[in-house]
Amino acid sequence: MKELRIGGMLIPVPIVQGGMGVGVSLSGLAAAVANEGGIGVISSAGLGLLYAKLSSDFLEASILGLKEEMRKVKEKTKGIIGVNIMVAMSNFEDMVKTAIAEKVDIIFSGAGLPLNLPKFQTPDSVTKLAPIVSSGKAARLICEKWKSAYNYLPDAIVVEGPKAGGHLGFKKDQIDDPNYALEKLIPQVVSEVRVFEEKYDCKIPVIAAGGVYTGSDMYEMMQCGASAVQLGTRFVTTNECDASLGFKQTYLDASENEIEIIQSPVGMPGRAITNSFLDKVRAGLKQPIKCRVNCIKTCDIHTAPYCIIQALMSAYRGKMNNGYAFAGSNAFRATKINSVKEVMSEIMADFKVKIKEKTSKK
Ligand SMILES: Cc1cc2nc3c(=O)[nH]c(=O)nc-3n(C[C@H](O)[C@H](O)[C@H](O)COP(=O)(O)O)c2cc1C
Repeated sequence: MKELRIGGMLIPVPIVQGGMGVGVSLSGLAAAVANEGGIGVISSAGLGLLYAKLSSDFLEASILGLKEEMRKVKEKTKGIIGVNIMVAMSNFEDMVKTAIAEKVDIIFSGAGLPLNLPKFQTPDSVTKLAPIVSSGKAARLICEKWKSAYNYLPDAIVVEGPKAGGHLGFKKDQIDDPNYALEKLIPQVVSEVRVFEEKYDCKIPVIAAGGVYTGSDMYEMMQCGASAVQLGTRFVTTNECDASLGFKQTYLDASENEIEIIQSPVGMPGRAITNSFLDKVRAGLKQPIKCRVNCIKTCDIHTAPYCIIQALMSAYRGKMNNGYAFAGSNAFRATKINSVKEVMSEIMADFKVKIKEKTSKK
């Protein structure tokens, strides 16, 4: 199996743990994945609420919270750590600057096109930058813009397909359209990226995300041209996942037909596990909103049916009547809670079996 190289950084196991907000992937999960040789990723979404005790000001608490998570993760691992920062968040710039100042190994950034991300690099920065895209066109746009405006190319690119959990970079009718399947998107992104690799003599590994659950899935993605995979859902049902047991239990309880596409107040579709809270939203019952933090640039409290950060925060704490769990299309497959070590060993063992099968057939 080939390790993943991002710039001069060597990642022994080509598995990235997707950043999961609010609070689902913090230093606990990220350190556990990094200790197994993958990239562990802290989500920066909602840190201002999780760390409200540090400051009554959401923006300040977010910065202090990210610093605190970085401190905790460095105590637990010497492995590779990333921070996930969504473009849609109104404190995007604060989070990027803090992550770079804290010398995080890599920033992953999606939920919008991170067109100005390299602007925040400092001369002494060690942080690599990886945009998350959902099409070859978006990958090209970012490469062009970053190169012309900042003389910088992405250190890696994540391509996230329509089976992912959380917000999706697709229109509703594209989600089940086979033309937008991850297997189709990877070669498109790889071929767009190759133009820049050849022109500027560099390597931009493509990381496949969305619906990757087993070593066989991982093998298929690598066959399509990916250099690594990013998994979110599979890591939720682990002991180390930072969400409450109540949150994880919704995954264990969910059946396939209980995983639905919702329209999020962020203005994008998302995938989540059906529950009474989402039933009420669908029935048009508006939840009371007191917006103190204006966390998302595009959210309008006058039209939003509920406050997403509060809903996700409630879910993180296991109060599922007041929120809901984002989840990938494979969430129903979880039957028990394992350690990250068990999950990663199982994936790698399965991946190696698949390679052996294919090579023995040749
Ligand atoms: C509970 C949950 C929360 C998520 N939150 C974020 C987030 O804050 N930012 C982000 O870029 N992606 C987020 N994602 C997407 C993951 O990082 C990952 O790319 C995706 O889940 C991969 O698909 P999979 O879940 O099928 O493995 C989230 C996914 C889940 C399941």
